[in-house]
Amino acid sequence: PDLYCVMGNPVAHSRSPAIHARFAELTGQHLRYERRLIALDGFAQGVRDFIAEGGRGCNITVPFKFEAPALASVCSERVRLAGAANVLSFAADGSIHADNTDGLGLVADITRNAGVALQGARLLLVGAGGAAAGVLGPLLQAGVRHITIANRTVAKAEALVASHSALAALQKAELLALAPQALEGDFDVIINATASSLAGDAVPVPASVLRPGSLAYDMMYGPAAQGFLDWAQAHGAVARDGLGMLVEQAAEAFAIWRGVRPPSAQVLEELRRAPH
Ligand code: ATR
Repeated sequence: PDLYCVMGNPVAHSRSPAIHARFAELTGQHLRYERRLIALDGFAQGVRDFIAEGGRGCNITVPFKFEAPALASVCSERVRLAGAANVLSFAADGSIHADNTDGLGLVADITRNAGVALQGARLLLVGAGGAAAGVLGPLLQAGVRHITIANRTVAKAEALVASHSALAALQKAELLALAPQALEGDFDVIINATASSLAGDAVPVPASVLRPGSLAYDMMYGPAAQGFLDWAQAHGAVARDGLGMLVEQAAEAFAIWRGVRPPSAQVLEELRRAPH
């Protein structure tokens, strides 16, 4: 079987092996997908070792996503915009191709699985770290009309606006950076790309950004998302965690590697029914 893996540190909790194994089963693809714990200073070596073992591709998770583009011979436009990659493909000629499917996964989960239109939407992106940077390009490409980025450190939101201004202009989308306390009005879709829930802190934006029927989406899942989801529900919004994003970004990676699109909605349903 062709060999794939997820590289991270920590990586023991990763659900990618189970997701890709199920994709392979459902599409009849013959592959093996492993978990690789990589030393914090050993990412480049880890990739070289994996290629030497015959690895065909890998997913990259925390904290190596930002190191991955430098190893690649070819980076997709999405990687250049995000400054990070979560998928590497190893070609027979020795070249390494980097892509970033996080944003595609988020867009697919919102539009296809949650059934919420992004075309023409007003969207609030909370946070301006790596998680936010990874999804901003695909959100703009999905036809979102207006995106406000709110972050505790406004300068980081402004930097994201600057790096995405050309794409925003191309898409005729409005892109704005604000301090959380300067937010006004409500939004169709609110995406939490901060680690605030993880830290047990309050959601870093006022509840006035929500209205009944807004989609409030946390890019994390499990206990890390619960604070945000509870807050959203208490204010009448439709709350959704990032499990679907996880499955859909995996599906995009699987399609890049195998040229076959797995039944991601079915696998997401299975994961929701049997969470562990
Ligand atoms: P990631 O790669 O997961 O995005 P990161 O680059 O460290 O991680 O970014 C974390 C994001 O969560 C940032 O937007 C951060 O805000 P700052 O840029 O001001 O640091 C945000 N964040 C983390 N903890 C937070 C908290 N307790 N309150 C508000 N924002 C928080």
